[in-house]
Amino acid sequence: MIPVTKPFLPPLAEYNAYLEGVWQRQWLTNMGPLASDLEMKLKQHLGVSHLLFVTNGTVALQMAIKALNLTGEIITTPFSFIATTSCIVWENCTPVFADINRDNLNIDPASIEKAITDKTSAILATHVYGNPCDVEKIEAIAKKHNLKVIYDGAHAFGVKVKGKSVFEYGDVSTCSLHATKLYHSGEGGLIVTKDPQLLKKLAYMRNFGFNGPEAFAELGINGKNSELHAAMGLVNLKYIEAIHNKRKEISERYDEKLKGLKAVRPKWHKDSAQNYAYYPVVFESEELLLKSVQKLAGNNIGARRYFYPSLANTLPYLNPVELEVTDTISKKVLCLPLYYDLSLEEVDLICRLLLRVQNN
Ligand SMILES: Cc1ncc(COP(=O)(O)O)c(C=O)c1O
Repeated sequence: MIPVTKPFLPPLAEYNAYLEGVWQRQWLTNMGPLASDLEMKLKQHLGVSHLLFVTNGTVALQMAIKALNLTGEIITTPFSFIATTSCIVWENCTPVFADINRDNLNIDPASIEKAITDKTSAILATHVYGNPCDVEKIEAIAKKHNLKVIYDGAHAFGVKVKGKSVFEYGDVSTCSLHATKLYHSGEGGLIVTKDPQLLKKLAYMRNFGFNGPEAFAELGINGKNSELHAAMGLVNLKYIEAIHNKRKEISERYDEKLKGLKAVRPKWHKDSAQNYAYYPVVFESEELLLKSVQKLAGNNIGARRYFYPSLANTLPYLNPVELEVTDTISKKVLCLPLYYDLSLEEVDLICRLLLRVQNN
């Protein structure tokens, strides 16, 4: 079986070494030394000014919306994971969908501008597959209309734009460190902001709003993460270069072997390098995609229609909206297997099968 993804697992002995310390200290959660160490190391690694290690990428988004006091409408992308939209609804705001750009599959700035009303408070955009949004245009729109910007950077670990971490754009950026992500802590998430006041507020929020043992500074939630997850994050960080190199090698092999495939790849941001979080292809037609999925499944190979369906017209709690580009692309996009343990021989097999489908 070749799944679409598999978590990276470091040598067990290295994880156990961290656990021995946890057992000695008997300190399992509530911002222990491993969680603090991970925050410091991630800050250095990513080159960001402030960062919080939190429960997961979904809670990170919810906390960001809450901390920015957002109300009314938030313009967002329907071409993302469900959490991007559901967190807006969860925080009692209304998601308003803008269409995506046909080439890079990120939210289209022109479509954002069209969706702005006097109720709009923010833009929540996803760097889809780790490919940065048009951060400069979005910043200009936000400034012009006095809107906040949150970036869902769940896929964008390690990505830079013009040499600066993509997480430094917008008012707040979030990341997911879920087991399926290229860098993970089992479960986990990050909140990044350049604003020290906002960071302080978010830090209170993460810990029920506690300000000392008997006082509260903010409305809070349990957004903390544990020492056991931090340990996983610390060990995995030692392997980040190896993970990146292996994913690059696999992706380049796909590029080489799939040259004749009747599909296109999303166009990458010109001032950014790929982090190889996913390997998406947009087929010429949905028919070819369905045949390809069937062929792969018949050979015990998983591939995922990610993101399908469009969030704009399938959620039972929202009124459906048709968006031309999103509706077309989401029917034709497929993510191929990509993970650290995937061998080049397996990649070759996947490519042979895909080419066979279209040539039959
Ligand atoms: C784009 C996007 N946003 C948010 C999330 C939510 O992250 P988590 O699973 O850590 O809650 C994910 C996770 O898959 C994601 O892909």
